[in-house]
Amino acid sequence: MSPRVLITEPVIPSVIDMLEEHFDVDVGERGTYNSEQALLEDIPRYDALMPMLSNPVTGKVIQAGEKLQIIANHAVGYNNIDTEAAGSRQVYVANTPGVLSDSCAEFTLALMLAVGRRLYEARRYLLGGNFDGWDPLGFLGMELQGSTLGIVGLGRIGQAVATRARALGMDIIYHNRSRLAPGKEERLGAEYCPDVATLARRADILSLHCPLTEETTHLIDESIFDLMGEEAILINTSRGPVVDEAALARALHEGVIGGAGIDVFEHEPKVHPELKTAPRCLLTPHIASASHKTREAIGLLAANAITGILQGKSPSEIPNLIQP
Ligand code: DGY
Repeated sequence: MSPRVLITEPVIPSVIDMLEEHFDVDVGERGTYNSEQALLEDIPRYDALMPMLSNPVTGKVIQAGEKLQIIANHAVGYNNIDTEAAGSRQVYVANTPGVLSDSCAEFTLALMLAVGRRLYEARRYLLGGNFDGWDPLGFLGMELQGSTLGIVGLGRIGQAVATRARALGMDIIYHNRSRLAPGKEERLGAEYCPDVATLARRADILSLHCPLTEETTHLIDESIFDLMGEEAILINTSRGPVVDEAALARALHEGVIGGAGIDVFEHEPKVHPELKTAPRCLLTPHIASASHKTREAIGLLAANAITGILQGKSPSEIPNLIQP
């Protein structure tokens, strides 16, 4: 009997085709596995799992996966998986680093440009029938050229953002768990700041690219907004809980900061109601990696790890394994 693989939601068809060449594959309906209970019920039947970032692959789920050999997340972030529990049961965990950096960086730049130049408000104004001729004071925004970008988390995606932002004439400052080697800093033209507070004080735009961990939960809170300038913009394409969403809504409504471009939310798919009504705030539904090319690459990389493990390849030949 072929090993059984569960892909929790429909993904790009070539990914399913690739796995179906070797395995017995089930594809869940959209949203079915967003609860622990649904995963608990079905996981005992499967040798491999490809979850989405919205699926809670908890310790209990991993315990219940009697046959489970690998969990290959359809995402680079893997805060939805209890990696410790997986490690203690010798279940491999994979993610999808690298393949989505360009797509996420381009999207981050899109948010920076759109919020900086107030595209969304301007569109609404025009469609609302308010355009009554060229206005020397209308929709004054922030130019990226000459502005300072503060990057929190200068990993692959943060670096891809830095390269593009430099090309647009921005100055780059960053904070990261560990400082980059001097040669790398020089190549990226990025100056290290010892803490996020310094970054917040100096940056015109603060962009988040760190993973969600205990340390980064609510890393951006009221105290950080108080340090940002009245015109400063926050961009978040990392994970929602990195930002205290209620504090962000307040900061926008009270004019403490100048704007925000937010692609990820604290309690997805819910969005804080006051964020929806906040001024100069562009909200998008977690789509930074959503190009056809990238979503296919994400799926194929995850599928490749599943194929490797189920076919008995040495883990050292599978570069995107996180553990064990
Ligand atoms: C990821 O891969 O972690 C992204 O959030 C998906 O867009």
